[in-house]
Amino acid sequence: MSSNQADVAAREFATAVMIGLSDHPRWLPCRFLYDERGSRLFDAICETPEYYLTRTESSILDASAADIRDLTGPVTLIELGSGSSRKTGHLLAAYSNHVRSVHYVPVDVSEAALRTGSAAISVAYPAVRVTGIHGTYDAAFPLLGELSPAMLVFLGSTVGNFNQTEAARFWSDVAAHLVPGDFVLLGVDLVKDPGLITAAYNDVAGHSAEFTRNIFHRMNRELGAGLNLGQIDHVASYNPEWQRVEIFARFACEQTVHLRPLGRDVRVRAGERIMTEISRKFVLDELEQYLASFGFELRQVFTDDRRWFAVLLFQVPRRA
Ligand code: AVJ
Repeated sequence: MSSNQADVAAREFATAVMIGLSDHPRWLPCRFLYDERGSRLFDAICETPEYYLTRTESSILDASAADIRDLTGPVTLIELGSGSSRKTGHLLAAYSNHVRSVHYVPVDVSEAALRTGSAAISVAYPAVRVTGIHGTYDAAFPLLGELSPAMLVFLGSTVGNFNQTEAARFWSDVAAHLVPGDFVLLGVDLVKDPGLITAAYNDVAGHSAEFTRNIFHRMNRELGAGLNLGQIDHVASYNPEWQRVEIFARFACEQTVHLRPLGRDVRVRAGERIMTEISRKFVLDELEQYLASFGFELRQVFTDDRRWFAVLLFQVPRRA
């Protein structure tokens, strides 16, 4: 990144922080959790015994990759929020078994994760041609038409980070840019015993807490925020009515957040909570209905024995 690009990025970050902290209740956009350190912390969460999501989804993909490939035939795989690309390996292995070359387009806001993930895929699967896109999901939408026949891959229950407004905008964008006949492969965490869910976001080793604090760590580094991270606590609990985990940073004492690129300060009082993330949990029938309202047809559901997690294959109908 040139210093000018870094300035633009810092101003964007500061502006987003200013908007969220000026709202009531206060919030911060969760994509800023994923700088290089944040992506590493998230990978550490995935390895904890409490965080069942990643290993459950990985086993589903391992068991169903060949079926998914047979259902879609040869397609370009475009993955949103690819991160380390580790789970996608199961899919790429299956697809590259059958055709001479597979095109894989990972999209991620973390340049470091994108670079290491892409390199690992190229080494493990030489038949896979990788075109990484560094940016938000919007960056990928205009390319979808050119990449058809395609399968948009959105794993890890990352879709659960969207609130209702964001989800509706996202799915209408996807529907507007995919071509009839194209596919969506969606991984979602399912509604289950609240105790299991809550534990997954409060691992004993403390990686979840450090991940939440990372957005402030990053604000200190990139915005000169000047925060004492030892006075910021991670609070995560399951809200059964909204079927979602709500994650907050709670300020133990009053602190002033300096936003150097804007030359502005925001004061946060003792006991105030800032929402950093939501993680929605899904009911299969409801999700099928919801996606159908955007025109996506469910082709197949893959799940685990305990029905903790599901991978769903949808298709944009061919025009009659
Ligand atoms: C990457 C968004 C799927 O919501 O479970 C994990 C992020 N945050 N622990 C999730 C997360 C805290 C994760 N997603």
